[in-house]
Amino acid sequence: MKINDNFEKLPESYLFSTVAARLRAYREEHPEADVIRMDIGDVTLPVPQAAIAAMHRAVDDMAAKSTFHGYGPEQGYDFLRNAIAANDYAARGIAISADEIFISDGAKSDLGNLGDIYSEDSIVAVADPGYPVYVDSNVIDGRGGELEGGRWSRFVYLECNEANGFKPVPPAVHADVIFLCSPANPTGVSFTRDELKAWVEYARANRAVIIYDSAYCAYITSEDVPHSIYEIEGAREVAIEVRSFSKTAGFTGLRCGYTVVPSTLTGTDEEGREVSLRKLWLRRQTTKFNGASYIIQRGAEALYSPEWKKEVRENVDYYLANACLIRDTMARAGFTVFGGDNSPYIWVKSPVGESSWSLFDKCLSEAHISCTPGVGFGAAGEGYIRLTGFNTRESTEEAMRRILEMFGK
Ligand code: MLT
Repeated sequence: MKINDNFEKLPESYLFSTVAARLRAYREEHPEADVIRMDIGDVTLPVPQAAIAAMHRAVDDMAAKSTFHGYGPEQGYDFLRNAIAANDYAARGIAISADEIFISDGAKSDLGNLGDIYSEDSIVAVADPGYPVYVDSNVIDGRGGELEGGRWSRFVYLECNEANGFKPVPPAVHADVIFLCSPANPTGVSFTRDELKAWVEYARANRAVIIYDSAYCAYITSEDVPHSIYEIEGAREVAIEVRSFSKTAGFTGLRCGYTVVPSTLTGTDEEGREVSLRKLWLRRQTTKFNGASYIIQRGAEALYSPEWKKEVRENVDYYLANACLIRDTMARAGFTVFGGDNSPYIWVKSPVGESSWSLFDKCLSEAHISCTPGVGFGAAGEGYIRLTGFNTRESTEEAMRRILEMFGK
């Protein structure tokens, strides 16, 4: 068989696999080094007790004939979709029905898989820097063109830099599909209501669809930052929203997320007829996915119980306090920093114009801190690194001490 040649166009390994491999090699050479992980956004606090208890009960369900669950609904169990519709949407005055919610094994899978429902010749717009899944999965699907100077010829790049505060703005050219993330990975900055409104207007004018990655919405504390794109009038006609339980409830290892595809959202076919995207996504999921596990969905449902409100809020606040500590320490020491207020991520500019990878090597070898090189998120990330607030408080404090010492601050 012939392979999908697009794989050969991609860099050899995925960003976080490359970082992990470099880290592994360093640890093998320096087994004595106590490396503090501030690279991948993986959580360190355990899963809230409410979810643990619910999953234990769900395991017991599997042991009895009367409560056993085999294949579940591909779209997810009603109990979880109803809880999401009520708590994440209705409670905020947003009209999203359970029927428009699709449970998955995480936001990353959905963000990559959504490419099945739009045409291969779609023009895709991505923020640079941005979460690499948007770029890599569209390259795999054949929408990238050629890689020239770190950028793919067929994408519309939404350049983010110090001057625009790392916030992508609607481009002057047309795009069919736009990936937006707020609070953003990797820069940690978020759209205000007015900024997001400009994007919804752009999408409506261009008959485009926004794929809105809202994986970090639990970290929003500012009043003028929307938690959902559907808080913006008209977004139901132009946006798909993707969310995750990973960063809110420690589900990075359990795997559960969801995608909202409103029934009012359409695309056009070859003949110019309007086709429901919800219908296409349902068709896609029923064909290629057998649903997230019953046990995990029971765990996610429990996060909406009153215990969740307290426990999960405490976990998110813990990581936010770490992020705030990183941001303030780095800023006080004279670094240019972004994010870290409505987000667990802090985007740090290299103080002496070093490349991202050389700063990565320096942090690892001199301070035993592993970060993510900014250039891994796109050419515009060169000269930056990303730190995360997901480690423990003690390790975060120690990391700050080491970084300041390294730069003689
Ligand atoms: C990140 O570090 O950017 C994320 O943890 C990656 C992910 O969620 O897949």
